[in-house]
Amino acid sequence: MKDKLQQLKKSAMADLEKAKNAEALQDFEVNYFGRKGKYTFLVKELPKLSTENKKNIGRLANEIKTEIQEAIKTRQVELQSERLGNFAKEEWIDRTLPGEKPRVGHLHITSQAIEEIVSIFTRLGFVRRKYPEIEWDWYAFEALNMPASHPARDEWETFFIDLPVGKKGKIVLTPHTSSGQVREMESGKLPIRMMNISKTYRRQSDVSHTPVFHQFEGLFIDKDVSIANLKGVLDYFAKSFFGEGRRTRLRPFHFRFTEPSFEIDVSCDVCGGIGKLEDGLKCRLCKEGWLELGGAGMIHPNVLKAGGIDPKIYNGFAFGWGVERTFMMKEGMKIDDIRLLYKNDLRFLKQF
Ligand code: FA5
Repeated sequence: MKDKLQQLKKSAMADLEKAKNAEALQDFEVNYFGRKGKYTFLVKELPKLSTENKKNIGRLANEIKTEIQEAIKTRQVELQSERLGNFAKEEWIDRTLPGEKPRVGHLHITSQAIEEIVSIFTRLGFVRRKYPEIEWDWYAFEALNMPASHPARDEWETFFIDLPVGKKGKIVLTPHTSSGQVREMESGKLPIRMMNISKTYRRQSDVSHTPVFHQFEGLFIDKDVSIANLKGVLDYFAKSFFGEGRRTRLRPFHFRFTEPSFEIDVSCDVCGGIGKLEDGLKCRLCKEGWLELGGAGMIHPNVLKAGGIDPKIYNGFAFGWGVERTFMMKEGMKIDDIRLLYKNDLRFLKQF
């Protein structure tokens, strides 16, 4: 037993020398001291010895175990310093190499469109304002000549906030930027040339609708304003934003807050304004060659009155367009589903 122990110590010390890394050292420990290890196996013989031998050989076995374990620690330190020594050779970096450029993002296309829209209208003297997105029913509907339970309200498919009704009615997520009209009039400064650009909300989602979208609203109030002024402003915008080649049209329409009212359409860029694609199928986006961008009209006298302005002295026009739709109609965009703008798919967004 004594010889066997000495023999074990000898072979252990030799094996330890051969262990060249931390994994090999772990294997070594398992090999000797694991459940089926060589040392474990040998000391299982101890109980079979006489009491006297048990004592002596037991002590020797303990001493040998301690010696081997000390040797393991020493080997560990050796290996560690060897590893650190090799570090400089194996894991060097060339600090003269050019670094990796951080990825640079850009403004979302809606923000880009807003910047461009603002810059065009600024040239015409319009000033940008921001009015609440969470708004009283009064500003969103009632002051705009749409009394409670008027059927025209249905078109706005509004989100109502579940809160007690206040003096100005319920609270809504504003379904259009027209809610800024009367707020602007209340400021009392005349004449008015303002742009209200904001998020707007409706219960809609399909290829040309998203539940959250943006509108830009123009409000122009002065003395002796005519439809010709309205058309001039819209034409200037359409030519600056879309280019000379695109066509626009005014279609008679009905809004409660303008009289007369129009819808403004721009020829569709996906199908070239003919409503059909090359394969003869209907254009998925516009279906008929024109895409509606928004509404416009001469401000209704009731709205001027709600804003504290005398309609006998002042008049004006207003228009409200969808930012996303306007952007989609730009030359060469060919985006056939508005929801793509908000899918956060970088492959799509990076293209703009
Ligand atoms: C209005 O919202 C009126 N307030 C516009 C107006 C302003 C008329 C001032 C007269 C005077 P309409 O509901 O048509 O009108 O919406 C205007 C535009 O917003 C639409 O033509 C479209 O471009 C855009 N739009 C409307 N709903 C959505 C939607 N769910 N997703 C994306 N764009 C939308």
